[in-house]
Amino acid sequence: MSHPDLFGDLPAGGPADAQRAADLRSLLHRYGHAYYTLDTPEVPDAEYDRLFRELQALELAHPELLSPDSPTQRVGGAVLAAFEQVKHRVSMLSIRTETDTEPSGAEAFDARMRKELGLGESDAPVTYVGELKFDGLAMSLRYERGVLVQAATRGDGETGEEVTANIRTIGQIPLRLPPHAPDVLEVRGEVYMRRDAFEALNERQRQRIAAGIKGEKTFVNPRNAAAGAVRQLDSGIAAERPLSFFAYGLGDITPATEGGPHWASHFDMLMQLKAWGLPVAEQTACVQGALGLVAFHQRIAAERDALPYDIDGVVYKVNDLALQARLGFVTREPRWAVAHKYPAQEEMTTVQAIDVQVGRTGKLTPVAKLAPVFVGGVTVTNATLHNELEARRKDVRVGDTVIVRRAGDVIPEVVSVVLDRRPQGAPPFTMMDHCPVCGSLAEREEGEADHRCTGGLFCSAQRKQAIWHFAHRRAMDVDGLGDKLVDQLVDAGHVTTLADLYHLKPETLSNMARMAEKSAVNLLEALEKSKSTTLARFLFSLGIRHVGEATAKELARHFGQLDAVMAASEDALLQVADVGPVVAHSIHTFFAQPHHSEVVQALRDAGVTWPEGDALAPTEMPLAGTTVVLTGTLHSMGRDEAKEKLEALGAKVAGSVSKKTDYVVAGAEAGSKLEKAQALGVPVLDDTGLAMLLAGEKP
Ligand code: IVH
Repeated sequence: MSHPDLFGDLPAGGPADAQRAADLRSLLHRYGHAYYTLDTPEVPDAEYDRLFRELQALELAHPELLSPDSPTQRVGGAVLAAFEQVKHRVSMLSIRTETDTEPSGAEAFDARMRKELGLGESDAPVTYVGELKFDGLAMSLRYERGVLVQAATRGDGETGEEVTANIRTIGQIPLRLPPHAPDVLEVRGEVYMRRDAFEALNERQRQRIAAGIKGEKTFVNPRNAAAGAVRQLDSGIAAERPLSFFAYGLGDITPATEGGPHWASHFDMLMQLKAWGLPVAEQTACVQGALGLVAFHQRIAAERDALPYDIDGVVYKVNDLALQARLGFVTREPRWAVAHKYPAQEEMTTVQAIDVQVGRTGKLTPVAKLAPVFVGGVTVTNATLHNELEARRKDVRVGDTVIVRRAGDVIPEVVSVVLDRRPQGAPPFTMMDHCPVCGSLAEREEGEADHRCTGGLFCSAQRKQAIWHFAHRRAMDVDGLGDKLVDQLVDAGHVTTLADLYHLKPETLSNMARMAEKSAVNLLEALEKSKSTTLARFLFSLGIRHVGEATAKELARHFGQLDAVMAASEDALLQVADVGPVVAHSIHTFFAQPHHSEVVQALRDAGVTWPEGDALAPTEMPLAGTTVVLTGTLHSMGRDEAKEKLEALGAKVAGSVSKKTDYVVAGAEAGSKLEKAQALGVPVLDDTGLAMLLAGEKP
């Protein structure tokens, strides 16, 4: 360590700091432009905030680095020339953000307020209003003599854009206030888009893009979609993108009459806005002191994922307006309010690889392997890309920087790629045409999005999962046969077919890693116990594609015996409740493959048994012996579906009406069959009658 100062950190405020500050300013300018002006952010908010704070800290430590054009010196975005400009009569301020996402963030705010107000320990707690921090865009609504005359965006806080026509499309915003509202009233609040509206909009956008319509794009998140809709020059398009609004404050106000509306607290003011018909979030609450703030923060955190719209935190405001006035402002922010954030639900990371995983039924799923990133409260390292089409649609490539979102218990997803950070020459993702595990051909059936490995149980990935599934609690219920052990048993070649499980030797098991002798004994006992099962469990455990627990139960009930299921034709299978053509085909082809019947035989030979019952006698089916004719268009279901359901209950669905017909079900535009039924005196049913018939009632 000879010259630490030459190789270590440069002296504070040196050229490196100046360079970094310049870099940060230019990055923030670019990201700010993309966010505020183009409504297409390049990086997640969390990244922007980090860079912003880094620059703030640098400027604070080295004021000589501060330049007047620094992004830290202004509030919002630029003003689009396309809209009329509006000078705000009362500036639209910003709000300080508490970045400590822990409860201590709320405590710090309360402590600051008490200090500023000169309150001592023995003084009563301060009353605050807890609000949601909506993730949309700020809007000022100006009412004159009760009529909405102008809606303006925040812009740079002093001058915004006039977007009245677009805001008028928001049904929740009253165009007229009740009588006795103030002469002039400026309501401040947030325009946002609900998540369901956002999903629907993006779906429509995708269809437009697919239809080759030029200039269409999808939106990264509801806030950008909302911002895009508000700043649409064509209010017809804005109207197609449903927006919502919450009020949280006031701007200009001139009382109409002497005395006018009067309120002493922020909360009372909000309740008055609500009474005038403006939407105020129902979570808005008065709370006492730091304890109240912390409880509010936690309550909303628990509700957050269930809300139909995005919030990125909560806002605390001192309730008493006289106290607010005493606290005043620091530069562009009120001292009496703070935004307390939640951990970000979107973060940036890089794609280290795109692996293809093989599912139980051979489905190949591309999975992005991510550099670990803390998002939505957990560390995320994987995000499914679902299938080739989806991976291509998002155009995720190895080496890409991506925005990852994780909200609530929803599995993490890649929202978008940060295109300008793509490494040169990164090739687009393509699905391999061979299974990455067994090398069998991978195929995509027509009309399906998924590629599948055709290796079946020859593929060790499918085999492993077939075995986990077989052992599942709701299948054969083999306690103690975990994923890791199955992997080892398959990899070591001890288990190649399901039946091999029942021939495992104690020595083999106790030789496996992390397997104590006692666990080996327990597992063998569990295997032994699993041999006495039910037909339904056995059918479910085979892992036939499309045969879930419920279908397995129906099959067992319907056929009573395994041999009957195995021998059933597709037509016979269609008679089973809830079995349609796809499921029937899947069951039939499963048993038609010799190695599947061999596995079944081997399991029986190993001692797997169940009580066999009788097939459901045709007479036991509620509609056995009933002949029905379907004609016309039904409202409640398609004709195929009606046929399937009737047949599942034992009815015969015939093509023409005769004296033997029990019912004719006639929908809209029924023709000659209806006439014939009427002529023959056959009872005619409509949708309601059909529903009764299917429910086992007499129509
Ligand atoms: S009050 C005088 N309350 O957060 C304080 N703002 O920088 C003015 N926001 O873009 C803001 N929810 O649109 C306030 N309950 C809430 C809010 C809220 C979201 C937004 C606001 C602005 C930013 C504040």
